[in-house]
Amino acid sequence: MQRRQWLTLAAGLVGSTASKLACAARDELKTVPFGRNPWLQPLRGYVDGLDRVAEGLGEGLRVRGRLPAGLAGTLFRNGPGLLERGGKRYAHWFDGDGLLQAWRFEGDGRVTHQARFVQTRKFRAEQEAGEFLVPAFGTRIDARLPVRGPDDMNTANTSVTMQAGRLYALWEGGSATELDPQTLRTLGPRAWAPELAGVPFSAHPKREPDGTLWNFGTFAGKLVLYQIGADGTLQRSQVLALPGAPMVHDFVVTERFLVFLLPPLSLDFASLRDAGSSFAGAMRFDATQSTRVLVIDKPTLQPRRQFELPAQLLFHFGNGWDRGDQIVLDYVSTDAQEFLSGDFNSMLGGERDLSRSVPRMQFLQLDLASGRTRQHERPEGLEFPQVDPRVVARRHRYLYSPAMGAASTHSTPERWGFSAVQRLDLRREHIERFDFGPYAVVEEQLLVPKPGSSQEGQGWLIGTGFDVRAQRSFAVVFDAEAISAGPLARVDLPYWVPYGFHGHFHPA
Ligand SMILES: [Fe+2]
Repeated sequence: MQRRQWLTLAAGLVGSTASKLACAARDELKTVPFGRNPWLQPLRGYVDGLDRVAEGLGEGLRVRGRLPAGLAGTLFRNGPGLLERGGKRYAHWFDGDGLLQAWRFEGDGRVTHQARFVQTRKFRAEQEAGEFLVPAFGTRIDARLPVRGPDDMNTANTSVTMQAGRLYALWEGGSATELDPQTLRTLGPRAWAPELAGVPFSAHPKREPDGTLWNFGTFAGKLVLYQIGADGTLQRSQVLALPGAPMVHDFVVTERFLVFLLPPLSLDFASLRDAGSSFAGAMRFDATQSTRVLVIDKPTLQPRRQFELPAQLLFHFGNGWDRGDQIVLDYVSTDAQEFLSGDFNSMLGGERDLSRSVPRMQFLQLDLASGRTRQHERPEGLEFPQVDPRVVARRHRYLYSPAMGAASTHSTPERWGFSAVQRLDLRREHIERFDFGPYAVVEEQLLVPKPGSSQEGQGWLIGTGFDVRAQRSFAVVFDAEAISAGPLARVDLPYWVPYGFHGHFHPA
């Protein structure tokens, strides 16, 4: 790739892929043997994409406990599933090709599991070549294929959603990739309008209770907004200028507003240009600057007001709502230095040697009239917060998440990940949790409303995890109103699946 092309592309990706995290160095492809840390084995991914599991189907899975009657539907999950090719391994977890999983709950106690790689243009070309061919977010690789736009590097590896019966694998740097929900066969990139072909569509769309899907994308100092109807068609879109090309991974929607937090992360173009750094390696966090809050009016899709917060880095929001001049929202803050240190890169070698900082839930109140902000946090370590889908953009009472357990996964150098599942009751300031103990890694948990229920929180909590001793992946189902009683059912796979990021439950 020509240097000019590279810089054009880099400019296009500022605020998109680059928002995930930063690591100052150690972004070379790895060739050392994968380490033996048992918590990290799923980070190895499926070597060369040939593993039988990757295209296979798990049937007749063992179920412990009793799956609830009425639980029928599919838990789709996505994450980086291929991190090594031709004896070389990515330096960064976020670089792997998307592996789409479908855990199908049949409603009669049976469960099947299926997983397929998203057949992006990049994946197919590299599969054929048997080696990595294009630059990745966190690994420096000289392009050996033309990179004409972000979709030439699209790994479709971050999240998954369904809208109007169509299934999409999501990656914030480029287009959504459509798949067949039954076979997981890849159908190709989705353009929401001809003029939006190839424009980034983030991995964190928000669906309101009426089925309206909101999303955004960032590229070249621009913020694109999407409003998609319950019928799956684009209702409105808007392109806004974003001064300073900030990095954005997620956002919140309230009944009247869209709210973005813009951390002071930027891309060091000299590092990209002269040192050939990866995007992650060229990211800089300026703690002397503020994290800006951008509030956009839904009716006009224009900025309404900006606020400033102390510099902070974040990935995920829980939910947001508004009343009068007040906007209330919550999100998980992340220690910027932890990410800048390149800890993730050491993990991709199968060993880790740093203790991690604790990501914490932050609660933010914005006053549109006065411009004042109020922020406080809770001490518990957690990530991947979720709410009942019936309260998205409305006042919520409960936040569900994986969380640090008593035998904290962050308390020893080798342990990694969250070992507990929790519900935070914001009204009572009360936490209910179940701890799987030190030998489990718990991933994102989704609230699935019970059929016929109407109250927030009346549902099942469904998610996945990894049994460290057995080296197997599992899915668990809790009664979301009795989490401390433990899972109602647990489904163990006869194999492990690489750690993933986000999922979506689609009722049958
Ligand atoms: Fe995310």
